[in-house]
Amino acid sequence: MGRGTIKKIGAALAALLFFLSAVLPGLWALPSGPALPADADVGDVEKTPKLIALTFDDGPRRSTTPLLDGLAERGVPATFFLIGEQIPGHEDTLRRMVDEGHQLGIHSYTHVKLTGLNDADFASEVGRTRTVIQNAVGPMELLLRPPYGMVDAGVRRRAGAPIILWSIDPEDWGDRNTAREVEQILQQAEDGAIILLHDIYPESVEAALQVVDALHGEGYYFVTISQLFAARGVSLEKGQVYRHACP
Ligand code: NI
Repeated sequence: MGRGTIKKIGAALAALLFFLSAVLPGLWALPSGPALPADADVGDVEKTPKLIALTFDDGPRRSTTPLLDGLAERGVPATFFLIGEQIPGHEDTLRRMVDEGHQLGIHSYTHVKLTGLNDADFASEVGRTRTVIQNAVGPMELLLRPPYGMVDAGVRRRAGAPIILWSIDPEDWGDRNTAREVEQILQQAEDGAIILLHDIYPESVEAALQVVDALHGEGYYFVTISQLFAARGVSLEKGQVYRHACP
């Protein structure tokens, strides 16, 4: 073999190593599978894509279904923090969430503050919700988002799950104004952000879908909370609080 041939082989090996080390893990971290056609289809692997997570609290409710329809049309996964007492009768909605690539978390059983609770009361809010969710969808790891984002040492100690807060809050429970919510989210959008919305309001469902369309146009990919942190090399730990995965 001449020197030129050896150089060519060397260059080919270097390219292969680059592909294996840089590109493959990125592909692995992004959502895949037929339920997520839009955001699984990463066109330009040369660039690190901008990632962002939509999260929805206080469901399931009737307005959850049109949200799931809109997310499915767009191939977008989200993360849902559920109210335990609203789950009976909506088990099919939870199974649909899992089937379509969404991630599930616990909000509480009756939407109370989790700070200052004793072991028994914490279990009846968080443990009971975990049981109801797992009875519907089977055993799986669940995230925790305490109501009002209120966390103390007792919540961290008893959580049994990563505690997920947020970095963008348009306070969609206030004026219920879709245009204002969309504008605020787009202004604050950044790589690694976590958006808080409530799937119990039709105005928020509409805002979420408009945000998806606008941010797709800006090159963002929507991912679940676990996908967001995995893509950044962060492994979520039980009892730890996370607000964003911004670089
Ligand atoms: Ni809530």
